[in-house]
This record gives sequence, structure tokens and C-alpha cells, in this order.
Amino acid sequence: MTLVYVLNGPNLSRLGTREPDVYGAETYADLVTLCEETGRSLGLKVEVRQTDSEAELIGWLHEAADGRVPVVLNPAAFTHYSYAVRDAVAMRTAPLVEVHISNPAAREEFRHTSVVSAVASGTVTGFGLRSYVLGLHAVATG
Ligand code: DQA
Repeated sequence: MTLVYVLNGPNLSRLGTREPDVYGAETYADLVTLCEETGRSLGLKVEVRQTDSEAELIGWLHEAADGRVPVVLNPAAFTHYSYAVRDAVAMRTAPLVEVHISNPAAREEFRHTSVVSAVASGTVTGFGLRSYVLGLHAVATG
């Protein structure tokens, strides 16, 4: 069974209570269940992780690169300014799909820039938690 990491950056553990008008009412636990169930239906073994630490996220990206593990990544706020996360993504050895729950292009100006997109395989934004489902479909087929 193909292993896939679903990696989440800062504040995503707060889903459900964090700005529900933007991110919805579903919790981080709901996200984990959704990703695991989607993985099962696609024949993938999905491992979902979340961290508020840039260093930890970079460590997980190194682990994915070393193991040739495909990744669905929501870098959260790191998306907009972390060249360190971008450089770690650039080392990828398997498909990596950048996902966002909201549509950053339709929000504040500082969210319009992703320093990660250019080194990802592709990006899915704006579909709520379904962005992860679409991202998992993309890594399963490509
Ligand atoms: C986000 C969008 C980012 O701008 C924000 O900092 C997040 C979540 C999203 O999933 O919509 O933390 O990545």
C-alpha cells in the first residue's frame, strides 16, 4: 500500500473553533478521519500530522524526500513567507500537492503570494476540507 503524508502547518489543529466563517465548523479530528477514509478508498495508507513548528515541518519534508513519500501539504501561514519550507519542498522526490482550505487569492493581499507553489506538483485551494480529498486523488493518480 502506498504511504502518503498529509502535513499541516501552524494553527490547523484549531480547526472547528478557528475563524469558522473562513475555515468551517469541522475539527482537526474530522480532517484526520476524512483523509484516512479517503486514503482507504484510494488504496493509500495516509498518515496525517500537524505542527506549529517550522523546524518540525521541515524535518517531516526531509523524511518524505528520503523515503520518496508523496505529500499533501497545507503549509498554513508558512505558505506566504517561509523560504525554508519552500527549499525543503524543492528537495521532494515524489509528488507534492499544496492544499488550502480557504482560497488565499480571494483574501488579504499578503495571502496572495505562495513561496511554495512554484516547487509543488500542483495546488488545490478553496474547497474547504475537500481540498485535501482532491489533493489525495491527485497524488494517487500522479
Ligand atoms: C490556509 C490559508 C493561509 O493563508 C492561512 O495562514 C492558514 C490556512 C488555508 O488552509 O486556507 O493558516 O493555509
